[in-house]
Amino acid sequence: MSLIIGMAGKGGTGKTTLAGMAVRYLSKTGRVPILAVDADSNANLGDVLGMSYDRTLSDAREEMKVSVGDISITKDTLIEMRTQQAIVEGDDFDLVVMGQPEGSGCYCAANAVLAGVLEKTFKNYPYQVIDNEAGMEHISRLTAKYMDIFYVVSDASRRGLTAALRIWRLVDELKITIKHKYLILNRNRGDVPAEVLKIISDEPMNLAGIIPDDPAIYDCDQNGRPTSQLDETNPAVAAAMKIFGETLVE
Ligand SMILES: Nc1ncnc2c1ncn2[C@@H]1O[C@H](COP(=O)(O)OP(=O)(O)O)[C@@H](O)[C@H]1O
Ligand SMILES: [Mg+2]
Repeated sequence: MSLIIGMAGKGGTGKTTLAGMAVRYLSKTGRVPILAVDADSNANLGDVLGMSYDRTLSDAREEMKVSVGDISITKDTLIEMRTQQAIVEGDDFDLVVMGQPEGSGCYCAANAVLAGVLEKTFKNYPYQVIDNEAGMEHISRLTAKYMDIFYVVSDASRRGLTAALRIWRLVDELKITIKHKYLILNRNRGDVPAEVLKIISDEPMNLAGIIPDDPAIYDCDQNGRPTSQLDETNPAVAAAMKIFGETLVE
């Protein structure tokens, strides 16, 4: 069984940055091979990891959908081949990008075949890190129906926490099973406001840790350098590694 880790949260909270750091944590602790899954249609996990890609899984799905009437063995084989082609191979980890959401028309048959192929392919990776989009559309359909560790990422503002709480509750309504669910407060400056702590304890949300706002992360990103390569002496990277050390347990 693979250890499946998911990131969710409002846009701009740091999901992708933290997904990259989770990959880094797994890789440095020898938990390999890892599959990094970019399930955000606005894909940028590759940038954070320093990897480029040219095919996505939705390209494969579009190609399949053209004549969905006849799902034969050949179609299975085709999508399997396209899935393999969409996987970018690195040393300790591979990257796959889901791509654009569904267009118009019926994707049921295409999705069913793709989901089957993904299940088979993803099983080969004992560790998977899934960077989700805020709406989490892919979660319910294509990616795992089961996740071991699910992180909801938020800033430490009251509005941010309100959004995080919505996502926190939403995952319970989606048809996925989650073993451990944690909140991460990212880009924190100064003390966490009392209202925010109250929202966390009222739910209650399981707070895995607080990551400071660090200009080096932002600068790295702005200059097109992969943040997953930042030095571990960086306070934000160190805080993230501590969180993963405490929560990424099998
Ligand atoms: N702890 C942090 N300190 C400073 N900047 C950060 C931190 N975490 C993320 N960022 C920056 O915030 C922006 C949004 O992060 P990103 O990971 O892309 O968020 P999301 O995937 O949730 O949209 C990026 O420019 C990123 O470099
Ligand atoms: Mg992102």
